[in-house]
Amino acid sequence: MTMKITVIGLGYLGATHAVAMAKVGHQVIGIEPNEQKIASLVQGKAGFFEPGLDEALAEQIAAGRIEFKSAHDESSRDADIHFICVGTPQTPGSMAADTRYLESAIRDVAPYLREDALVVGKSTVPVGTAVKLTAQLARESGFSNPNLAWNPEFLREGTALEDSLSPDRLVVGVTNSRSEELLRKVFDPMIQAGVPFLVTDLATAELVKAAANAFLATKISFINAMAEIAEVSGADANQLAKAIGYDERIGNKFLRNGVGFGGGCLPKDIRALMARAQELGVGQSVAYLHEIDKINLRRRDRVIDLLKAELGILSSKKILILGAAFKPDSDDVRDSPALAIALLAHEAGANVLVHDPVALEGVALKHPELSLEHDLLTAFVDADAVVLATEWKEYRELDPNTVSVKNKLIIDGRNVLDVAKWQQAGFRVLALGRTITN
Ligand code: UDX
Repeated sequence: MTMKITVIGLGYLGATHAVAMAKVGHQVIGIEPNEQKIASLVQGKAGFFEPGLDEALAEQIAAGRIEFKSAHDESSRDADIHFICVGTPQTPGSMAADTRYLESAIRDVAPYLREDALVVGKSTVPVGTAVKLTAQLARESGFSNPNLAWNPEFLREGTALEDSLSPDRLVVGVTNSRSEELLRKVFDPMIQAGVPFLVTDLATAELVKAAANAFLATKISFINAMAEIAEVSGADANQLAKAIGYDERIGNKFLRNGVGFGGGCLPKDIRALMARAQELGVGQSVAYLHEIDKINLRRRDRVIDLLKAELGILSSKKILILGAAFKPDSDDVRDSPALAIALLAHEAGANVLVHDPVALEGVALKHPELSLEHDLLTAFVDADAVVLATEWKEYRELDPNTVSVKNKLIIDGRNVLDVAKWQQAGFRVLALGRTITN
């Protein structure tokens, strides 16, 4: 059954959620104060690289199921549900999440809220936020018991729309049956398709997201810690991951060793969880996440150490960094290991050149000090070393016989290259987590 909804905040999460809701048949108003973003969205462009999203957006605009506004107006009053999808970035100078955009979203929606309508937070938040926002909403709407629920989103960049349409599970934190009923209605197509629907209290729903991301980050840093041991003992962390992954209790996913995790979620979410646990007096419970963070950051230094061991001092050496996005199929460079390695090499005096199929625009804005090259084969010319830092398909499938460099050295930071192929083309190949005989 069609419902009227608003989606507030049209970044990665909001734009994807708005399109997914329209796709399952709801009538969506997207609210985004940034006029530039609105101008792009009405043209059917989400404003970031996400396979399939722009096409789906254009389709839903054409079908008349989605429209965009820079602020609420009287039409928001018709909405049964208001989804809040604004960002909760890391506070500068602190590990805690900054919830100010949530507070303004509540302030903006309050005058347009019907008493029977529901506000649903989807942003990743410190546990306890929903209760505070409910109190704010009560003050600002004048309703004594406004309906506010929490519904964390688990989408991954690169497969965002698919993840929103067929999630592994739906988790909804509610305080009354009316909220649950509305959420069951809005997610009915997913529930009918067999997606597990878990109803919890607000705190559990908030914490589920932090816990899931902490677990994922821990898995990656676990295998990267094993990689550190493998590097000094002659073992092979790839084979190790494969061997332990056969145990179903461990599983083989998220055990790829390499330059580590980045992006707009895992790094900030583990830090926010540490900050919140500390505030709640149980900092010890997640103190281990400090190590998870440190192991992750050490992998970036490892690449620089390998470069120095091979080339001596890096000043005036041309280092080509393949990849800037934090992972393939994304143009997101937030907390990207690839970009961090490029910056570390630049600071060490190297003449760094960065290639990425889609993320260079973002790099140019943030780091004008880095040299960028759009053409892959041109980028290789005269390189003293090449670092594969993001596992884009074009790098994995590249024929090493087609590239021309000064010194045939490549470091596989993601363990994805066909080593024999690169060696046959005359390259010395190094990788993280294992010793390759060259
Ligand atoms: C993550 C969560 O997966 C998602 O559920 C949550 O909603 C948001 O955060 P995302 O940031 O899109 O999603 O990326 P993800 O695919 O989880 O990868 C995160 C980082 O870990 C990437 O930098 C990736 O390269 C790295 N990674 C992943 C590894 O280094 N090894 C692995 O085995 C898997």
